[in-house]
Amino acid sequence: MTIAAELKVAASPSSNPSAHRVLEDRLTRLYGVGAPKLLARVDRALAQAAQARPEPLRALDAARQSDPHWISRSGETVYTFYVDRFAGDLQGLIDHLDYLQGLGVRWLHPLPLLKAREGESDGGFAVQDYGAVEPALGDMATLERLAAELRARDMGLLLDVVCNHTAREHDWAVKARAGDPHFRAYYRLVTDASEVTRWEEDLVDVFPDTAPGNFTYDADLKAWVWTTFYPFQWDLDYSNPDVFLEMLDILLHLANKGVQGFRLDSAPFLWKRAGTNSRNQPETYAIVEAFRAALEIAAPSVLLLAEAIESLDDVLPFFGVSSAACSLAYNNGVMTALWAALADQDVGIVNRMLGAAAQRPDHGAWLNYVRCHDDLIWNALAQYVSADDLQRWSRFYDGGGFSDGRRFQTAPGGVPSTNGMAAALVGIGKPGVDQTLARSRLSLLYGVIHALDGWPLIYMGDELAMGNDVAFLDDPARAKEGRWLHRPDMDWALAASAEAGGTGSEVLDTIRLYGRAAQALNAAGVAGRAIPIHLSAGVLGFERRGGQPFLCLANFTEEAQTVTLLAPYDAPGRDRLTGRDIPSGPLTLAPYELIWWSVVG
Ligand code: GLC
Repeated sequence: MTIAAELKVAASPSSNPSAHRVLEDRLTRLYGVGAPKLLARVDRALAQAAQARPEPLRALDAARQSDPHWISRSGETVYTFYVDRFAGDLQGLIDHLDYLQGLGVRWLHPLPLLKAREGESDGGFAVQDYGAVEPALGDMATLERLAAELRARDMGLLLDVVCNHTAREHDWAVKARAGDPHFRAYYRLVTDASEVTRWEEDLVDVFPDTAPGNFTYDADLKAWVWTTFYPFQWDLDYSNPDVFLEMLDILLHLANKGVQGFRLDSAPFLWKRAGTNSRNQPETYAIVEAFRAALEIAAPSVLLLAEAIESLDDVLPFFGVSSAACSLAYNNGVMTALWAALADQDVGIVNRMLGAAAQRPDHGAWLNYVRCHDDLIWNALAQYVSADDLQRWSRFYDGGGFSDGRRFQTAPGGVPSTNGMAAALVGIGKPGVDQTLARSRLSLLYGVIHALDGWPLIYMGDELAMGNDVAFLDDPARAKEGRWLHRPDMDWALAASAEAGGTGSEVLDTIRLYGRAAQALNAAGVAGRAIPIHLSAGVLGFERRGGQPFLCLANFTEEAQTVTLLAPYDAPGRDRLTGRDIPSGPLTLAPYELIWWSVVG
């Protein structure tokens, strides 16, 4: 992709002076004396992108700008999946949109679909060309068609932008390997072994078994290159202004193809600093603020999603420190706590994490989820609980209790995270486990994430209670990477049966009900943050403050539980999920029962 510097378009006075001031400030903070030159180049890129923005996308920009609170709406359900595993290719995906709409899905988040390196690519997270679609999945024209089809259905496309690293085969890396100093400066290269050792002292391995260390020696480079993840994923050097501009160019290019949001993959790792673990550095947040400000000028409806599976204290700044940054961030603290609560039949940790999550700013929304394509990282709760708690949960989900999960690799000092589909983790299909209770656990978790403030995320197959895919062990290309356990092929036969009211229909119907119920909260005037109400050890209660009274009650135990509600919930209410009237007085919840209490009327 060429850089906008070559364009003849004159730097236009910014259409959005306040965003431009933020942009200038963040670039100055990041690049010091180099900032004015960079800003001039960024301005040209923005002017060109703004000029090229297709009319339907400008209309979307205008619509979203006239409704600044749209991000806080309930029921903006996201569905996440690998394109090949879900539908073969992009055309297949287009063919399955009715199914997704039937689920109440409004946003698609396909996992990386840009052209990846050949062979191992960490599920597409090693991009060779950000300007092309993975050939096996389709081409850019089909992607644009998908985006347009989604807009016509009032849906949106969230795309992964692997912004922390490129594949070793990306053109920049190829040129760096050929010795071009301009492109060598795109990556973090170290030529002295003792320097590698010094850095490593403060770094934590993400994949200590399958990709130990954070540097890889490359004979072509005659240097070690920083590789946080796999050796073929080369970390970019964001202290180089050219890298910032290249990535911005990529965002602008894809935004004008109709992408409505970007998942910033591995966002915590963008800035490296000696003497630290090089995660969540202040400059990282400044980079994201700068991206946001730039998009505000050239493609304002496009949102950013932070993929930061870190302690909540480090996630919150991704919404912005001095100005807005991401509109969405994974609510991994609450997600992990929900699993912990199921294991312990005690909701204390969920109460704590909900309290912390409520600190999000008004312009941001949580992406609430149960499972995704990655492992479940217990270490992200380390600041909130004891090491014993983490160990207990990790062991429980390593096939203990009702669970049929498996442990994943972890760096020394941490506890193993967990792999497995949600259905397996709740015990669906596990011999000896009560299957009615197991299904209730899955429904409970999905019901809670639909009731929280923010956007609910469905991980492909969970709506059908699809189980683990142990077949990955027979495939040499995947066998050594445990996360493939929960990346099965979509079971369309099961989907057809569930849609026809047969096997699988129970969970599918429940998830569809949640989707409708969450969307109905808007019209019912239910809004605001989820604030925990301490009811009893086994029953989670949270209210939504900011509109009509609403209380979500969730029994996290295998026993019936009775709770007493205080005002305003001591009045007769109605369960928004079942339509059942709830009399005042003590309320008994069946095992794993979920109630969305709201006022009658
Ligand atoms: C993110 C992705 C994960 C990938 C890693 C490296 O954490 O979710 O699947 O392995 O980034 O790109």
